[in-house]
Amino acid sequence: MDLLVNGRTSHVQTDPERPLLWVLRNELGLTGAKYGCGEGQCGACTVLIDGVAHRSCITPVGSMAGKEITTVEGLADGAHLHPVQQAFIDSDAMQCGYCTPGMILQSVSLLRKKPSPSEAEIRQYMDGNICRCGTYNRIVAAIQKAAHAITADAKGERHA
Ligand code: FES
Ligand code: FES
Repeated sequence: MDLLVNGRTSHVQTDPERPLLWVLRNELGLTGAKYGCGEGQCGACTVLIDGVAHRSCITPVGSMAGKEITTVEGLADGAHLHPVQQAFIDSDAMQCGYCTPGMILQSVSLLRKKPSPSEAEIRQYMDGNICRCGTYNRIVAAIQKAAHAITADAKGERHA
């Protein structure tokens, strides 16, 4: 089957029931998505499918025909990091970094849906993403920073 990942189409031959996570990591070499629980419970494997966060460990690759998949490797625009990536760095919102790709993609999904979320909305949307290092407060701060940056950019463009 053909998979559209980060704007590129790749042909893969695999069991359609195989989890997307393993195809991304082992066939396409995209190791940003991490294996945590394998049961959809931790968020380490989160990717965007048509712009919305999904758990790739419980997503059969066979269901991906015609869908657009984005991993953390595909978020930056050339040398420019995505505002959420930049905000995670600026807010020091990581310790070991294992949860970070999933956290970032979950955050991108949130901000696409709700560009100016309240702190409570952020905590609720991020609730299924686990950070064993306990950096939750800094992650919330990073999302708030990214929301401000994205909103300011949008206003700048409108007034340009
Ligand atoms: S590894 Fe997919 S949700 Fe935990
Ligand atoms: S930074 Fe270590 S698990 Fe989140």
